[in-house]
Amino acid sequence: MEQRADPRPYSPGLEGVVAGETSIAKVDGANGRLIYRGYPIVELVRAGTYAQVAELLWTGEWPEQAHMPTAPLPRAVLTALRALPGNAHPMDALRTATSVWGAVNRPGWPPTVEDARRLTALAPSALAAFARLRQGLEPIEPDPDLELAAGFLYQLNGESPDQAAARALDAYIITGAEHGFNASTFTARVITSTRSDIASAVAGAIGALKGPLHGGAPSEVVNQLHEIGSAERAEQWARETIDRGERIMGFGHRVYRAYDPRAAALREVAEGMAGMADWLQLAVAVEDTVLRVLAEKKPGRIIKTNVEYYAAAVLQGVGLPSDLFPATFALARHAGWTAHALEQASANRLIRPDVRYIGPAERSLPGVGASR
Ligand code: COA
Repeated sequence: MEQRADPRPYSPGLEGVVAGETSIAKVDGANGRLIYRGYPIVELVRAGTYAQVAELLWTGEWPEQAHMPTAPLPRAVLTALRALPGNAHPMDALRTATSVWGAVNRPGWPPTVEDARRLTALAPSALAAFARLRQGLEPIEPDPDLELAAGFLYQLNGESPDQAAARALDAYIITGAEHGFNASTFTARVITSTRSDIASAVAGAIGALKGPLHGGAPSEVVNQLHEIGSAERAEQWARETIDRGERIMGFGHRVYRAYDPRAAALREVAEGMAGMADWLQLAVAVEDTVLRVLAEKKPGRIIKTNVEYYAAAVLQGVGLPSDLFPATFALARHAGWTAHALEQASANRLIRPDVRYIGPAERSLPGVGASR
């Protein structure tokens, strides 16, 4: 092994390392605050739409009104989606669509706000088309009058979505739009920093988000609540789960040491959804019990509800199949990824960290050094 000590600081996983500057969003984990360009997430969810929030992230301006319908799919994207096996991972389908779109449109460098809009509007159409194709159904053309969330539901189900469902999904994608230097956003910035194009940056970001350590699993929250079944069983279930050393899905966060503000915003939305009453009542009762048991069993830790918990309630409430949850999160994050691509390009410096070598010291190949 290389013995010489490298005196430079090293942080595994880059934890705690400040690797850039941004004016897009601030994640204040200690105080449970999340702001997009200064505006708190709870206000954005209450008073804004995803189209407005995306424009805010891209341009820094809050538009009085914004309209973002889903985009028609280029023929090559549709051909690629048709060629995928029906059991392909929806994230792979989305990544493929982005990649093909890039090959067809050949976006240049630096990326533009228009590129960001086009890619963000493409993603829901691509995901909806794949979701239908795998069921043997034909994709549906976008309705230009519908906003992104409503348009996605329409292209998925073939019927005009319920307004409350569309509003709830819109709220969900606002909370998922941006979250600082997470792994997928950082990936998008690294790719952009090489002066590669925005489609490559987003395709890479989707790849990073696909990993279970990042993309999260609100679907596991749904399974968990099914397993618990009733509020009365929650306490015993929580105790046994923690005693087995397992983690309870929808609780805890690497950054937030207070109640995740996105969970609070989504809980409000879920509470307003018709037809959710029973399921939500169970979710709220289980949440209270789990928080109490976690506080008792892990007294040294602050483990609060995270966004996945109420994301599960909303996504289940709007009728999405649970295997589409991670890819729906990816649709939401398009605004953030592309905003970061724009910001990176606006003051670009190639992102190229160093690595500490811990392999063998320099030596000769077997037989080569000995013959000298
Ligand atoms: N259920 C049970 N125990 C939990 C827990 C959970 N959801 N989250 C943290 N803990 C416990 C760990 O077992 C560990 O205990 P120990 O020190 O006795 O071994 C301790 O708390 C670690 O806490 P912390 O440092 O705060 O967590 P982390 O930064 O290592 O992990 C997560 C953060 C998100 C990975 C973790 O909380 C988790 O796995 N949560 C469940 C999955 C989830 O909801 N993911 C979505 C995140 S948005």
